[in-house]
Amino acid sequence: MSTGLEQGPPVGLESPVKPVNRVGVIGGGTMGSGIAEVCARAGLDTLVVEVDLSAISGARTRITESLAKAVARNKLSSDAKDLALDSLSFSTDMGDLADRDLAIEAVIESLEEKLSVFRAMDKVMEPDAILATNTSSIPVITLSSVTSRSGMVVGMHFFNPAPVQPLVELVRSLNTTSATMDRAHQFVVENLGKKVIHCRDRAGFVVNRLLIPYLLDAIRMYDEGKVSAADIDSGMMHGCSHPMGPLTLCDLIGLDTIEAVADVLYEEFKGSHNAPPPLLRRMVAAGHLGRKTGKGFYEYQ
Ligand code: CAA
Repeated sequence: MSTGLEQGPPVGLESPVKPVNRVGVIGGGTMGSGIAEVCARAGLDTLVVEVDLSAISGARTRITESLAKAVARNKLSSDAKDLALDSLSFSTDMGDLADRDLAIEAVIESLEEKLSVFRAMDKVMEPDAILATNTSSIPVITLSSVTSRSGMVVGMHFFNPAPVQPLVELVRSLNTTSATMDRAHQFVVENLGKKVIHCRDRAGFVVNRLLIPYLLDAIRMYDEGKVSAADIDSGMMHGCSHPMGPLTLCDLIGLDTIEAVADVLYEEFKGSHNAPPPLLRRMVAAGHLGRKTGKGFYEYQ
């Protein structure tokens, strides 16, 4: 039973839901590439929009390498990899999103950047197309407010690495319609084969509201200088069977993303557990963002 306007599972699944066949992904960074790979592996016609040719080349390389890894791990056949690559196209023109049934915004966690993408998507896409955001923390209602279709905007939050993590958080704003939720739910579960949880439009949704304070605490513990990064990580891997320790996970997510999400959590809920610690601020300022820059709590080739 639904407990409020923003909560609860979609309600109208018995009525026919318009399928999603053509998908757009805006942003080809870590998350955008992963989301595009998931869509292409599901056989969907997938267009990635990036700012320039060099960014397109980076996205293409990330996806190709991840598909090769999936083949090497026996998660994907070689034919399925080729089909996925055939389903992908790239563009630097937002206008090419015009024929998409759904577009997923996955640019950096900056309000200004995301608002500008939402304005552009709204301008070029058909009135019945769904606009989704992969934001980790920015209110869906804020992004929808710059469009002419607030009811058709939904949060669709994937986890890193998107081809591996089964979960997607579906976020319903105060204005998102039940029909949009039904379509988004069907797309994520039936097309992409992911597991869904339904979340209210509050900073951090469910997972980041729990995860980010934990990661910030690990950074504070490391900064106190009494325990090594390796021991903090080993503790959580071997004491709690986490697949990776918190500082390795910080490097995987990206320290700039963690800082941005923590800032939004702190602004919304306050609480010292949500406040970005000084070491995180300094590492971001130094460009030590984790795997993507080759250096974070650890060094990478
Ligand atoms: N495609 C398909 N499957 C893949 C794959 C790919 N590209 N890469 C790896 N896999 C599979 C492997 O086959 C393996 O599966 P099995 O266990 O069934 O054999 C599994 O993923 C693990 O792979 P590896 O052992 O090769 O390990 P890895 O080093 O490549 O990757 C990891 C490990 C998947 C990242 C794992 O350590 C993990 O899950 N870590 C936790 C990550 C996490 O917590 N993510 C959430 C971050 S929070 C977030 O994203 C939200 C936000 O807003 C900040």
